[in-house]
Amino acid sequence: MFNTDQIEKFKTFSTPFYYYDLDLLKKTLETLKASCDKYGFMVHYAVKANANKKILSIISSYGFGADCVSGNEVKRAVECGFDAQKIVFAGVGKSDKEILSALKLGIFCFNSESLQELEVINSLAEKENKIAQVALRLNPGIDAHTNKKINTGLSDSKFGIDFNKLEEIIAFVQGLKNLKLIGLHFHIGSQILDLEPYKLLCERSNELQKKLSNLGLNLEVINLGGGLGIDYYKPEKNSVPDFEKLFDLVHSNLNVKDFQKVHFEFGRSIVGQCGTLVSKVLYTKPGEGVDFAILDAGFTDLIRPALYGAYHKIENITSQALENGVYDVVGPICESTDVFAKARSLKKTKRGDLIAFYSAGAYGEIMVSGYNLRDFPEIYYSEN
Ligand code: LLP
Repeated sequence: MFNTDQIEKFKTFSTPFYYYDLDLLKKTLETLKASCDKYGFMVHYAVKANANKKILSIISSYGFGADCVSGNEVKRAVECGFDAQKIVFAGVGKSDKEILSALKLGIFCFNSESLQELEVINSLAEKENKIAQVALRLNPGIDAHTNKKINTGLSDSKFGIDFNKLEEIIAFVQGLKNLKLIGLHFHIGSQILDLEPYKLLCERSNELQKKLSNLGLNLEVINLGGGLGIDYYKPEKNSVPDFEKLFDLVHSNLNVKDFQKVHFEFGRSIVGQCGTLVSKVLYTKPGEGVDFAILDAGFTDLIRPALYGAYHKIENITSQALENGVYDVVGPICESTDVFAKARSLKKTKRGDLIAFYSAGAYGEIMVSGYNLRDFPEIYYSEN
């Protein structure tokens, strides 16, 4: 997927490194913007997927909001040009310090998922002499049919408040004078490719909106969360996700009143395909039935395969060999789980070859760790 000039340039970079294709990022953002405009939907970019400052600044320049899950993400988003009035602050455990700093910055809304937290936000807002806008994160009891480690919408998940308790929670929030309830928030999981669960989510939302109307409540925000998946198998073919397909489905299935706005919080689908991790082969050695390709990148640089058993397309981008070999592609870390792929077919591989891991723009760089006191990967962009 890289041309000869790019590969020649890569040979001069120190490895391992993340490489971001900013043109692809911009193309993705333009497509997303056009799809949002078609239906008047609002997207908050999920900063957790990639908080690289250059990337955040590009995303904010398109007018999108930011979905943050820590006080530092809120600060980073503001620093990179996101309007505080377009920042939502979610997360199952926000500390007092984080809540306070977000209140001071005047963010748009707290997505809250427990009664205790609502009480804390209320009392901190009272001290600050502010009214905090809140949306309730409800657990809709829907299976997103994705990797069970990133599935969040079922009743045994730590996320959200049971949707059956809506009336109870509303009565509770109405007693908290420094809160203004403005919406409902859902997020059923990540890397969702079969859109059927979103249809069920729309139906659940419609049901809950009906209950709200009966209570005489008109909440202006319906936030359906993130989760739209990307094609890890054919990134070259499907480099820009089909936002419009999801939006069409939501438009046809979600009841939205004139005063209401539909929000999404996409992370992976915005940044996933624009990032590649490039690593160098340190050694090869024979194993049982396959050879090992031992790279200078390990799970400290890209943890998704080790943590979730996630698949990334892997390619030897410098080998001139005409034949393929079968490799266990592994890292240098002193842990047996430091394996990127088992029995993967790659062009015949030797020491010094460059190996690309595609679709690494989301939950790649941001999940880098310093385990084994390893260096952090370098970062390069298509423009330099
Ligand atoms: N909103 C909420 C409340 C979330 O928890 C998440 C992701 C998102 C939005 C963004 O979801 P996305 O559009 O990126 O699917 N590290 C894992 C993914 C964890 C997702 C956590 N929550 C991975 O590498 O697959």
